[in-house]
Amino acid sequence: MAAILLFICAQFVIQPVNAQGLSTLTLQLADKALNPPVLLAPMAGITDRPFRDLVMRFGAGMVVSEMVASQEMVQAKPGVRERAELSADVENTAVQLAGREAHWMAEAARQVADRGARVIDINMGCPAKKVTNGYSGSALLKTPDHALTLIEAVVEAVDVPVTLKTRLGWDDSLLNAPDVARRAQDAGICMVTIHGRTRCQFYKGSADWSAIRAVKEAVSIPVIANGDIVDTNAARVALDQSAADGVMVGRGAQGKPWVLAQICHDLYGAKAPVIPTGDDLVEMVRAHYGSMLEFYGSDLGLRVARKHLGWYMDEAGTPAALRRSVLTSRDTDEVLRLLGDALAAEGEVAA
Ligand SMILES: Cc1cc2nc3c(=O)[nH]c(=O)nc-3n(C[C@H](O)[C@H](O)[C@H](O)COP(=O)(O)O)c2cc1C
Repeated sequence: MAAILLFICAQFVIQPVNAQGLSTLTLQLADKALNPPVLLAPMAGITDRPFRDLVMRFGAGMVVSEMVASQEMVQAKPGVRERAELSADVENTAVQLAGREAHWMAEAARQVADRGARVIDINMGCPAKKVTNGYSGSALLKTPDHALTLIEAVVEAVDVPVTLKTRLGWDDSLLNAPDVARRAQDAGICMVTIHGRTRCQFYKGSADWSAIRAVKEAVSIPVIANGDIVDTNAARVALDQSAADGVMVGRGAQGKPWVLAQICHDLYGAKAPVIPTGDDLVEMVRAHYGSMLEFYGSDLGLRVARKHLGWYMDEAGTPAALRRSVLTSRDTDEVLRLLGDALAAEGEVAA
């Protein structure tokens, strides 16, 4: 088993510093290198397949699915398997599993690996009460021995790399991420992402990137910094303060699916994204809307799409009345038509 773990983890290669002075991380999955280390964060209700595909089309090192409840997935509860559905870009998609019982986590991991997941991520960071009350997500930080049983079961169940996403600790009196990360590494975890807040902070205050450094110092596997990284400048400072090997971007990509590609370009020399404006932006948003309707069906798709459309309109500075019309319409053709004016507002605001 130890030899197998070594083999899998050896697929994550940290390369020497590059021209920008940043350490570059190549996530080598089988024969495919995932580079640069700029990852889309898992966000329940947001990073669904249509959004991940869109982000990946602009460019990113890897995208992570919304969290998938392991027991519910194995028991085929309606809607849960869809969350694990792999993108068109299967190679670059990690599926995130949540749960509190080793056997459900292991079985769910086997199932998603059988469907082609190339990386499995374990959720140990979700702060939501309905998750922590079920003793999963960030609640696992309070019971690290138990968390280890889940980690070991998943690592044992699959032969794809298993990664872990967690926070700095439960609260200021239990900042145990370094210890948890080290034990997870010993159990075969190949990479750890740290959101620079405690569970009890939820999303309040600012992410403490420098506190992630203690995790980086505790392990030899790659560490990814997460929290409040919304653009290239923030990514640069986060990398500097944390000494992490890469960044994960969540809310910063809402309404701006190109932001990861921009960071990949600015910090790692990847091809510059063509950021759509005017008619191109309208066309991109209409296509995203269409892919959500197709993925969920029009009834559910219409509702799921509203938050994304809201973010696009925030960026565009859409006038309030028009915004309301887009977000309350139940007619998908009307929404598609209104989007033209709603996003054209971008030019007027900017002018
Ligand atoms: C609406 C929402 C849903 C989220 N869902 C998940 C999830 O399913 N799994 C997870 O590990 N983290 C989840 N997170 C946390 C994000 O992955 C990320 O750690 C957090 O938002 C901080 O990064 P950011 O400031 O770049 O958004 C979620 C965050 C938000 C705002």
